[in-house]
Amino acid sequence: MTNATPATPIAEHPRMTVVGTGYLGATHAICMAALGFEVLGLDVDEAKVAALSAGDVPFFEPGLPEKLREALDSGRLHFSTDFDEAARFGDVHFVCVGTPQQPGSHAADLRFVESAFRELAIRIDRKALLVGKSTVPIGTAARLASEIQEISPAGDALELAWNPEFLREGFAVEDTLHPNRLVFGVTTAWAEEQLSAAFRPILDADTPLIVSDLATAELVKVAANSFLATKISYINAMAEVCEATGADVTLLADALGLDDRIGSSFLKPGLGFGGGCLPKDIRAFSHRAAELGVGQAVAFLDEVDAINIRRRVRTVDLVRELAGGSLAGVRVAALGAAFKPNSDDVRDAPALDVARMLYLEGASVNVYDPEATENAHRVYPDLDYAGSLVDAVTGADVVALLTEWQEFREASPEQLGDLVAGRRVVDGRHALDADRYRAAGWEYRALGLPTVHEQVAAP
Ligand code: UDX
Repeated sequence: MTNATPATPIAEHPRMTVVGTGYLGATHAICMAALGFEVLGLDVDEAKVAALSAGDVPFFEPGLPEKLREALDSGRLHFSTDFDEAARFGDVHFVCVGTPQQPGSHAADLRFVESAFRELAIRIDRKALLVGKSTVPIGTAARLASEIQEISPAGDALELAWNPEFLREGFAVEDTLHPNRLVFGVTTAWAEEQLSAAFRPILDADTPLIVSDLATAELVKVAANSFLATKISYINAMAEVCEATGADVTLLADALGLDDRIGSSFLKPGLGFGGGCLPKDIRAFSHRAAELGVGQAVAFLDEVDAINIRRRVRTVDLVRELAGGSLAGVRVAALGAAFKPNSDDVRDAPALDVARMLYLEGASVNVYDPEATENAHRVYPDLDYAGSLVDAVTGADVVALLTEWQEFREASPEQLGDLVAGRRVVDGRHALDADRYRAAGWEYRALGLPTVHEQVAAP
């Protein structure tokens, strides 16, 4: 997207600010300091800034606390709530604030993005680059690019680029320091060069770089997440077919995944996807596509969403079936609350949604998660929360495995069997050894697996 050699020199070793110190921003700020840059992390939340400044990461992310302490000790990383300080400090400003789903709509809520760009732009009075990393509806970056130039004392000297982020929770440090690709959405040669300087150590490690226009950079992110969500819902749709035919979705997924053209990653059947990205990104994409008049092109995403939600309902059905047809008064041990293992994130968590539905049908639900209990309790205070796996399963009529933490995989079916009131388990993630559980006298049920070796009726 670039044409001319930049007339204005770039900052070769740019000082960076990172606005928003949530999952994405805190990780980005810490990793950039680890790479040798001077970084100022900015947030409007004083508690977050205080925690990070004291060396505490306010969420669970393996490896990040160590990196934070190293970066603070190096003197290259600071945190602040002061936009004036940020505007003076940075040559490159990364905006990493959240774009949650709007209440009552599928559209993304851009309030925090708008405000972050505005607060920086009105204060910056020299050549600088604002870089959006947040996931936004296509067209947002181009609009912001002209808006910031209108309101900034720097005028046209303030430029905008878009640099989508693909990090996975649980692998945030690895994905930030060793991404499988970088995408730079830019409109000038200067912006491309300045952004390249900000990622120099990563580019020097031969990381593939795609340089594009702003809209393509925005689209890469939602298209990638839509593809991943579609793959998961595809295998979960096959699980529904398996349930009607007596076929085994785990064997089906193994057989499909061995075809290199398909591949086995994101083809794991079960309770489906959740978290702060995939569900809201596909909804916001579908909403935006409709606004742009191409809703039909991504209409399948609505079905991807519907398949995903049906898996949660079906998991409740399996627990009810094992409980003998009614959940009223049934004691259920719900193992897992986080949307995936190695995370304490409960945003749109399938596990917690299932626990809530069980509770609403009259079950007495005892939730245990190795890391997410506190967050889960904040969202659903009505559920009971156990302090350990043993506490959760003791006296349970049915055990429901909802997030595949290693601790649950490693538990002994014999020992668990001695604690429960009835040996009945629903494995929502295909994480347990069905044969071992059955051998230990458990009734074992899982999504997309035959209950007994039944034959489908002949066509
Ligand atoms: C995702 C994208 O992977 C990442 O690139 C993007 O930047 C943010 O969104 P994350 O939300 O951390 O990352 O979770 P991810 O590891 O992708 O898992 C998403 C959900 O899909 C989880 O709930 C997981 O349990 C589920 N999943 C994943 C499956 O059900 N089956 C699979 O095969 C893979």
